[in-house]
Amino acid sequence: MTALLQINSVDKDFSGLKVLLGINLTVEHGERHAIIGPNGAGKSTLFNVITGKHRVSDGQILFKGQDITNWPPHKVCRVGLARSFQVTNIFPNMTVYENIRNVIVSKKRMRFNMFTSLRNIEDVNAETRGVLETIGLETSSDTPAGELAYGHQRALEIGLALAMEPELILLDEPTAGMTTEETREAVKLIERITAGKTLVIIEHDMDVVFSISDRVSVLYYGEVLATGTAEEIKENQEVKKAYLGSKK
Ligand SMILES: Nc1ncnc2c1ncn2[C@@H]1O[C@H](COP(=O)(O)OP(=O)(O)OP(=O)(O)O)[C@@H](O)[C@H]1O
Ligand SMILES: [Mg+2]
Repeated sequence: MTALLQINSVDKDFSGLKVLLGINLTVEHGERHAIIGPNGAGKSTLFNVITGKHRVSDGQILFKGQDITNWPPHKVCRVGLARSFQVTNIFPNMTVYENIRNVIVSKKRMRFNMFTSLRNIEDVNAETRGVLETIGLETSSDTPAGELAYGHQRALEIGLALAMEPELILLDEPTAGMTTEETREAVKLIERITAGKTLVIIEHDMDVVFSISDRVSVLYYGEVLATGTAEEIKENQEVKKAYLGSKK
């Protein structure tokens, strides 16, 4: 079976600065794959080239065997790939409910056609409530998103990606800046929402990485240093030297 996502020899440079160098990475159907690496390693850039925010300088990206290299973001989203951002992407003045509902409406427009009159308004509302329930924010549905506690804003951010019903979900540091308690809640949420889906998660918190992921890839100065199970990565000498050893 072909992998869900396959990245073949991808390079990315920004006006001569080489940020990704020959990245090869495979994400299998149903796996939870973590990407770790020091600041500036190129992790977010990798997400940016996968999702079409930036063009690759070279190489190829396949999703379900289809070449999606340099597709624009809306087209990538349409084939079933959604992401959350390291920096939050919510509309702070809109309510929690409106934030989610907006995504669902635009998804329906995108999947059917631009002029679908949203006759099935009840479907949209039911789906919105379903997402809010999944992310545990149903009681905050009328709160302006900007007034939510930080951990809840990040949960809403995950909800925005989830509302797209993606097959592959990419999360960029979903627990960044969270308290221990918020992180614990976020991990539970991520496990819940990614059941039956495929996840790629960029994460700095090693406890989260090792508890959530089936496989881990280490990115170091734009190169994949190693890919393996949490155990393999923990024992990998190169990784220890380059990354883990220097941190803990
Ligand atoms: N749009 C851009 N233009 C120029 N340089 C960029 C751009 N985006 C990223 N870079 C550079 O690419 C390198 C990798 O950045 P990236 O954000 O991918 O790192 P990261 O691994 O996500 O780091 P962090 O853990 O801090 O989030 C950095 O040196 C960064 O300055
Ligand atoms: Mg980043």
